[in-house]
Amino acid sequence: MSKTVTIVGIGPGEQGFVTPEVSAAIARATDAVGYIPYIERLPARPDLVCHPSDNRVELDRARHALDLAAAGGDVVVVSSGDPSVFAMSAAVFEAMETPSAAWADVNITVLPGITAMLAASAAIGAPLGHDFCCINLSDNLKPWDIIERRLRLAAQGDFAMAFYNPRSTSRPHGFEKTLQVLKEECGDNRLVIFARNVSRPDQTIRVVPLQETTPDMADMRTVVIVGSSKTKTVQHGEQKFVYTPRYYEVDV
Ligand SMILES: C[S@@+](CC[C@H](N)C(=O)[O-])C[C@H]1O[C@@H](n2cnc3c(N)ncnc32)[C@H](O)[C@@H]1O
Repeated sequence: MSKTVTIVGIGPGEQGFVTPEVSAAIARATDAVGYIPYIERLPARPDLVCHPSDNRVELDRARHALDLAAAGGDVVVVSSGDPSVFAMSAAVFEAMETPSAAWADVNITVLPGITAMLAASAAIGAPLGHDFCCINLSDNLKPWDIIERRLRLAAQGDFAMAFYNPRSTSRPHGFEKTLQVLKEECGDNRLVIFARNVSRPDQTIRVVPLQETTPDMADMRTVVIVGSSKTKTVQHGEQKFVYTPRYYEVDV
């Protein structure tokens, strides 16, 4: 009996971005638990039992995975990107805060994956080449006030920033407010990258000066990277890259 839960990240889309360790965990699993579109990305195998579930049921999904493992399963919990970046690892540990006796001898492992912001950064150059921070713009699990405070402080600290979950159809106004806050804090001195469906066949990358950004440029398939005041473009033949230098020159 296996009794294992392996929490895996299957990267942003491109099969080559799935790590060998994650592929091996999926190949030996008896059960796969995850959000429907992520389960659909797994290689089909007749002896793999899939347990797809809807969005926003992360704790139920985590408990289900632990129960399946306690019954002897070798269970993979599947996230896109990295499983610890706004994804399932934390949900499994949250579920364990209210333990069931049956879970006591379940072995738990987290295997990292390539998160969307790193795939997006690589696709355009190195906008995260200096200090940066990463903010989930969804206010499902935290109040807007804390998001706004973090945005303002990150802008004042001249961090580059990466935003996940920027703009859903049910709460489109958060991203509008985000752009407003950034325009107030940063003036016109920032490049913004809208990276949609990164590493997938329909990938698009747009680089837009902050003052020209509009909320409709992002949706839930987009990761948004805002450069620091030092982020710039460099031309190489036909290619234009965006990067943030490793050094920080202070203007005098
Ligand atoms: C719930 S979060 C999951 C993040 C995931 N764990 C990761 O590490 O990439 C979902 C958000 O990730 C971003 N995202 C995930 N995959 C993406 C991709 N292929 N291209 C652009 N953004 C992506 C989007 O901002 C999306 O709204």
